Amino acid sequence: MLGPQPAKLPALSALRREHVRRLTVATLVDVHEELAGRARSFALEDGRALAGYALFVLGGAAPGSPPSRLLLEFHVRPRFLQRAPEAFARSCDHLRPTAVACRTDDASLLAVALPAFPRVRATAPLYVLDGPPARTPPPSPGLRVRPLRRVDLDAAALLYAQEPPERAGTTDRGEIEARLRARREWGLYRSHGRGDELLGVAHVVPQSHAPFVGVGPVLRRDVRGRGYGTFLTAAVVAAQARAGRRVVAAMGRQNIPAQALARKLGLRLAAWHLTLER
Ligand SMILES: CC(C)(COP(=O)(O)OP(=O)(O)OC[C@H]1O[C@@H](n2cnc3c(N)ncnc32)[C@H](O)[C@@H]1OP(=O)(O)O)[C@@H](O)C(=O)NCCC(=O)NCCS
Repeated sequence: MLGPQPAKLPALSALRREHVRRLTVATLVDVHEELAGRARSFALEDGRALAGYALFVLGGAAPGSPPSRLLLEFHVRPRFLQRAPEAFARSCDHLRPTAVACRTDDASLLAVALPAFPRVRATAPLYVLDGPPARTPPPSPGLRVRPLRRVDLDAAALLYAQEPPERAGTTDRGEIEARLRARREWGLYRSHGRGDELLGVAHVVPQSHAPFVGVGPVLRRDVRGRGYGTFLTAAVVAAQARAGRRVVAAMGRQNIPAQALARKLGLRLAAWHLTLER
């Protein structure tokens, strides 16, 4: 009987690594990992044998939050694969999910989940860079990309404050300071008589598995659509590629400028994040 038993997330880390290694793009994006951090974790046990695991999230009604009862991850080890449908059915009986999160490169989960959750919604494309990024010259003179300095905190705070939460926006000063401490942020500057003016920021976030990193640019609204986002992101992506990291980018399905930007830099559409519903 492959039933789900409550477990601690760290106890499942070897199984989670095994799950990720089976994906074509062998990492999970940071937004997914944030959800996993607040998921309820279950081991799928067959007597004393650990056959797989499931992560389950109770969502909220807030915009951008996950569906109300989401099966976030589900994995059955290869030698138990024949019993995956049974394990999935038991997990659904126990956890009663209304939706299942899945990726198009997760064939094992698609095979067991689609019969019960046939309505497929594509939520976010996943782009990946396979080689060096496309080169892009500065779109106007006097533009420079360099690591963000602490004196630029107020200008960076304004940039983040203009965006909704699903695009990394926040007005929380503590959150912005914590970001600047915890992850590497780059700034796009225009030099003129009064010094350097901050036009945009791009953060670099390690994803669940090395060597993958995510790069997320945010441009000041009044300077968008002039090639500045391309210039900033190309410089940051090139620095990551030189350091041996592989850049991925996931964005909302309707974020057309961010998708155009990813393609322009040479990133390839490798998979989609899906929500499966009954
Ligand atoms: C995404 C973002 C950084 C792009 O910066 P930008 O300076 O406006 O983009 P660029 O001018 O360099 O243009 C990049 C590509 O996007 C396209 N693009 C820009 N604005 C667009 C729009 N409003 N509609 C459709 N395409 C658009 C451009 O045409 C260009 O592609 P092309 O050269 O093949 O035509 C900027 O729109 C932004 O800050 N968005 C909000 C934050 C965000 O969503 N970040 C992405 C998180 S993954």
